[in-house]
Amino acid sequence: MARRPFVAGNWKLNLGPTAAHQLATALREGLADVSGCTIAVFPTALSVGSVVPVLKGSGIAVGVQEIEAKASGAFTGGNSAVMAREAGCEYALVGHSERRQLWGETDASCAAKLVAAYDAGLLPIYCIGETLDERRADRVDEVVFRQLEGGLAKLAPDQVAAITLAYEPVWAIGTGEVATPDQAQAVHASIRGWLRERYGAVADDIRIQYGGSVKASNAADLLSCPDIDGALVGGAALEAAGFAAIVRASL
Ligand code: PGA
Repeated sequence: MARRPFVAGNWKLNLGPTAAHQLATALREGLADVSGCTIAVFPTALSVGSVVPVLKGSGIAVGVQEIEAKASGAFTGGNSAVMAREAGCEYALVGHSERRQLWGETDASCAAKLVAAYDAGLLPIYCIGETLDERRADRVDEVVFRQLEGGLAKLAPDQVAAITLAYEPVWAIGTGEVATPDQAQAVHASIRGWLRERYGAVADDIRIQYGGSVKASNAADLLSCPDIDGALVGGAALEAAGFAAIVRASL
């Protein structure tokens, strides 16, 4: 069965409730005729409440950018997966490279958060990818396999089957430097090979997004690669027409 493409917009720390409401409204209108693609946006937690009602029934899902492993308690500043679900989120990002680099997220903390996401009824997108130094040292497979091994460690096979992965080379995020389709496809194929070895045929159903400076002008080439099943889009997701064009390129 062909994998359904999945295009997600990671709004990062941009767009407060008013601006997020406006962008969500424009996306609802601009993508009203699209089917055959899973679409989700990830506003800041503070803007989730203004986006969810706009996108209800639109076919565009809402996700939370970050969750804690714990559902509640003394974790000042944290977001709970259970509360995100209650607020209308369907997805959660886990392990984004900015969280790994700036907040010290590890494969082990990701593993706990992936469990928390499923426990709360959220579908996770688990982000992996190498730094420029790691690529130059020819360690790409080693790094992404380690991230997969550590991050997926606590999941049941059916949870692994339902996960979305995002391969995001750190050197391509927010830099304008995009991996070539050949570079990206090669890593996606080795990720799928790793999944097949561990989890069998289900590897062919798991969607692997590419992320890192995806925009309307390069999306079609990337998304036509056989193992690239969608995109996790940062900067270009902040503008409705550009994001809509990326979604259409996935169809
Ligand atoms: P970018 O971000 O598209 O701005 O490179 C992608 C991401 O961080 O998910």
